Amino acid sequence: MITIETAPYRVVAPGRVNLLGEHVDYNDGAVLPAAIDRSVRLAAEPLPGRLVTLHALDLDQQVTFDLDQLERRQDVHGTPLPSWARYPAGVAWVLEQHGIRLQGMEASFTSNVPMGAGLSSSAAVEVGFAVLWQALGGWELDRLTLARLCQEAENHYVGVNCGLMDQFACANGVAGHALHFDTRTLLWRPVPLPAGAAIIIADSKMRRSLATSAYNERRAACEEAVRLLQAKLPNIRALRDVSPEEFAHVSHQLPATVRKRAQHVVDECARVDEAAQCLENGDAARFGQLMFAGHASLRDLYEVSIPELDALVEIAGSLPGCLGARLSGAGFGGCTVNLVEEAYADQFIAGLIEGYAQRCNKQAEVYLCHASNGAWVES
Ligand code: GLA
Repeated sequence: MITIETAPYRVVAPGRVNLLGEHVDYNDGAVLPAAIDRSVRLAAEPLPGRLVTLHALDLDQQVTFDLDQLERRQDVHGTPLPSWARYPAGVAWVLEQHGIRLQGMEASFTSNVPMGAGLSSSAAVEVGFAVLWQALGGWELDRLTLARLCQEAENHYVGVNCGLMDQFACANGVAGHALHFDTRTLLWRPVPLPAGAAIIIADSKMRRSLATSAYNERRAACEEAVRLLQAKLPNIRALRDVSPEEFAHVSHQLPATVRKRAQHVVDECARVDEAAQCLENGDAARFGQLMFAGHASLRDLYEVSIPELDALVEIAGSLPGCLGARLSGAGFGGCTVNLVEEAYADQFIAGLIEGYAQRCNKQAEVYLCHASNGAWVES
């Protein structure tokens, strides 16, 4: 079996946290994620032929599939691929569909990005394998295209209808920076994180059971809103095209639930614009307020929070040094992200763990996080 330390090809692919801009990446809006210092580590040795053997070290499982039989989503014995193997197989499938011929390999991987926690453990696996195959094959492909191909794998091979934010952040992260990424124009720029403020992640340990169906329902509500609003605003293509002022004039035409969902998206797009300026002006206090407002909107309008995440955000807000807190990722479980004055970071972490244990009788995992580079090849 390939060991991570000694293999000839080694890749590190980070997870991501989203600071603001939730559920806007499938509405053409802009997002503000950062790659984080929790990552998937992959190692491989090329093999002649077209067979790929993968070892999921954390699960103690292995699978072998044939690059000529990817469409079947089965291993070489005709057994359906285990869910973890669909991400690398999906990446291989998309790359081959785009004319890149891959070679067989034996690879191992391990991850310390918690799974199902809203920190993009799957995007990290996808991007990691894409970069690994790229290192093996030596072909050229820019990171934005690579991220889009990984998203395509998730949409069409794994079957999750996600936007582009996660794969983008895992592929393009910049150490010490958040990424302002416009999911329509695909233009992006790194923005420095506020000096003197720490990013702290709190894992509620609640996992997203409803996630896929609720995610698709939210997407459908947004599409419905655009369709209905086009009667009054014929030039809009997505909710990102509607300003809060315009929305106030036309929103009464929408059914109540669709109106709430759309209100979140319209406001969240405006919050991201303001937040990016705050980062550029070093205004961490206002940025933090926008995070709290984003959480309230996800809780009350988009309805993707759960009591445990609300509790974490409320407790955070009561602790000294906390500038902002919100759920991060799709919701229904997972993590909150907190912006905290650096001097208070240790005290904050202890206070949040204690408060959560008292209020929810659960053990949160809370840790300081550093914005990392996007996936890289180790030499
Ligand atoms: C998941 C999806 C992303 C994005 C977020 C919500 O992480 O994979 O594309 O839609 O939810 O912001």
